[in-house]
Amino acid sequence: MIQTDFLVIGSGIAGLTYALKMAERFPDKKITVVTKAAADETNTKYAQGGIAGVTDFENDSFEKHINDTLIAGDGLCNEKIVEIVVKEGVQRISEIIEWGAKFDKDADGDYMLGMEGGHSEYRILHHKDVTGKEMERALIEKVQQFPNIEFHKHWFVIELITQHHLGYLVTKSTPDIQCYGVYALNTNTNQIEKILAGTTLLATGGNGQVYRSTTNPAIATGDGTAMVYRAKGRIENMEFIQFHPTALYEPGVGGQAFLITEAVRGDGGILRNKKGEAFMERYDERKDLAPRDIVARAIDSEMKITGTEHVYLDCRHLDKDKFIHHFPNIYEKCLSIGIDITQHQIPVAPAAHYSCGGIKTDEWGRTSIRSLYAAGECASTGLHGANRLASNSLLEAMVFGHRAFEDASRLPQTSIDPALIPDWDSAGTTDPREMILITQSLKELQLLMSDYVGIVRTNVRLERAMRRLDLLWEETEKLYVSTTLSPQLCELRNMITVAYLIVKGAQFRKESRGLHFNTDYPEKSPILQNIVL
Ligand code: FAD
Ligand code: SIN
Repeated sequence: MIQTDFLVIGSGIAGLTYALKMAERFPDKKITVVTKAAADETNTKYAQGGIAGVTDFENDSFEKHINDTLIAGDGLCNEKIVEIVVKEGVQRISEIIEWGAKFDKDADGDYMLGMEGGHSEYRILHHKDVTGKEMERALIEKVQQFPNIEFHKHWFVIELITQHHLGYLVTKSTPDIQCYGVYALNTNTNQIEKILAGTTLLATGGNGQVYRSTTNPAIATGDGTAMVYRAKGRIENMEFIQFHPTALYEPGVGGQAFLITEAVRGDGGILRNKKGEAFMERYDERKDLAPRDIVARAIDSEMKITGTEHVYLDCRHLDKDKFIHHFPNIYEKCLSIGIDITQHQIPVAPAAHYSCGGIKTDEWGRTSIRSLYAAGECASTGLHGANRLASNSLLEAMVFGHRAFEDASRLPQTSIDPALIPDWDSAGTTDPREMILITQSLKELQLLMSDYVGIVRTNVRLERAMRRLDLLWEETEKLYVSTTLSPQLCELRNMITVAYLIVKGAQFRKESRGLHFNTDYPEKSPILQNIVL
């Protein structure tokens, strides 16, 4: 058993921002960071385009960034939260620069600001096309300076500990559900450990792996969201799954799709269909730099009209040296598969990229469960509304990592007699005899979500998806209660829950707005509504 003051689940930008600040303010307290993979294996590490923030006050302003965020969010953003993130974000950017993150500068020493879809000004700070890798590097190096941060890598958090584990009946109407910590599978020893904490922060990231094609790494399985739902906490707006318009199309290559950052279109890249037409002008006056929901739907529509599995991103007209300077990683990746971007167009297709909804939090990152905070992609703060503005998520993760830290350091910590919390009960379970039962169910899940709950939805598709999810859920629950737990089984279980929440949210939303498009309700409803499950 481990006892700690502040428990952090996840070592991406949200989790580490919080952990660093806690460690600095409370040198005599213990901060425990748990992550299910290597320390830096996070969505954060793969961020390309950069971090949005107002730093050029001559041309840009908070008002413009706020306005762009509200327009992208299609009516559902929480305006107060948007203002908080845009205004406080600038301080958080300064902090990560102080912690050692480097963003590209020009010959005069000014930051080189990038452009992406939905932004009215150049405001994206970046480090080449590997911004997330640089930010994660800086955070991990900084964490190592604090002896009061204890890191557990390859520990898989299975469940939140609440009154339920003390033998009480907990329902969604229980007034004060309390989090006492978590049960976690230490995959180095295969033991399930109890971690008791005064305060817990969930920073478990996104859920792109629920879909067959995603830009997200294997860790993005929505574990935090599923755990909170099982613990009877509130989850919000899960139907708003953002598909990135331009993932590299590589037939036959499974797993994580390589991203071609939106910044390439910001620098002049043009989308073309099979016939070579620059089709975006038919869909939106902002053409290739319209918000992501519009571009992804336009590509989906072109692929259906022309019967192809991808469109093209044309960069042949761009200055080669400038391209290589800004996007060295993309240039190399394309070359490695025989695409010289100066001569060939890049085949691209939309892929699941970001979850705008998640664990419902307030302006301090508090969830509906006491002593439990959430920050980063797993949280639904109200910033993104129905569609996230590009490069706003790294910013949001830092702002709410900080806000959760401020709030948690003010509140008295809870403690419980450890003897009251039972050890994990594995009685009656046996080792899995057939991994195929897990791997095949995962394939089915990803396929049904991509085919029925993708960029364009219909009532019939959603109904079908729900029926198939019911079956997968029933089969997986049987395995869960009878089998020795593995991360693969727990992830499958979590992804089925997350898929259920996406479908349920989509069924409740009787309109098309932002990232949710249902051909049975093609119009926007006059009533603005967040779907809380
Ligand atoms: P993550 O960085 O994903 O970290 C999640 C952590 O939780 C990991 O350490 C993981 O191991 C851990 N975890 C999860 N479940 C468990 C469990 N059960 N037990 C223990 N640990 C667990 N956003 C931008 O603003 N700008 C960009 O340019 C940009 N580009 C992107 C490019 C790509 C390819 C991708 C995939 C995303 C991009 N995003 C971008 C989105 C952004 O990177 C993420 O939203 C953000 O990094 C999420 O940070 P996080 O701290 O919330 O989670
Ligand atoms: C990209 O670089 O295109 C991704 C930016 C983002 O997801 O915010």
